[in-house]
Amino acid sequence: MQIAVISLFREMIDGYLSVSVLSKARERGIFSVDIYDPRDYTTDVHRTVDDAPFGGGPGMVMMCQPVFDLVAECNPPKPMIALSPGGRRLDHSLAVELSALDGFTLLCGRYEGLDQRIIDQLVDFEVSVGDYVLAGGELAALSVIESTVRLVPGVLGNAKSSSDESFADGLLEYPHYTRPASFMGLGVPEVLVSGNHALIAEWRKAAALYRTLVNRPDLIKARGGLSEADERILAKHGYSYKVSE
Ligand code: ADE
Repeated sequence: MQIAVISLFREMIDGYLSVSVLSKARERGIFSVDIYDPRDYTTDVHRTVDDAPFGGGPGMVMMCQPVFDLVAECNPPKPMIALSPGGRRLDHSLAVELSALDGFTLLCGRYEGLDQRIIDQLVDFEVSVGDYVLAGGELAALSVIESTVRLVPGVLGNAKSSSDESFADGLLEYPHYTRPASFMGLGVPEVLVSGNHALIAEWRKAAALYRTLVNRPDLIKARGGLSEADERILAKHGYSYKVSE
């Protein structure tokens, strides 16, 4: 998978990717990341990449010319995805879609944003990481890269880790415990040390359902509510809850 990032802050992208869980996958050639800086494609001595918005208002807007020239010269992989709070929300299903591609380019805005002509002419779609405003697209681009690349076969040590985790089946993940079984008087659920794997799987499902009911009732609603089997295992494992409207 070939990923390109267009950013005025190369160090942010490079720094994170060289220490994260992904650095080994990058070294092994499972994916590559090329970083392009629009400032390298400016034509004036001040290497200007931004200007005041037409019509007035606060902030600065990233100019067309450096980005257009960069794209014409480097031909980074399509689709071109711009990070913006106005884009499609990043979630597990978007990460799955992106993980099936041979590559993509992430275009990071800074300042107030990108000149709309960049978006209209060069960008295939925009992605947001949530309903809040960051100072630029870099953190968002890193979230896209990490959530996507870790789904590519061979990146995580254990293929099951990504199929078991939160959102993979529309539920949050069940809680985890490790040794010791008693810590400062705090125990772990009995079932986990029972050796009964069918019962453990059932408890995990019930715990995942419960956590999702409490923290993300919207996800339960999206699955069409609780089934009779869901209700049965919640009751069996001692979870009581109220479905909120
Ligand atoms: N740039 C600034 N805020 C952002 C957000 N929430 N998502 C993606 N890119 C952004």
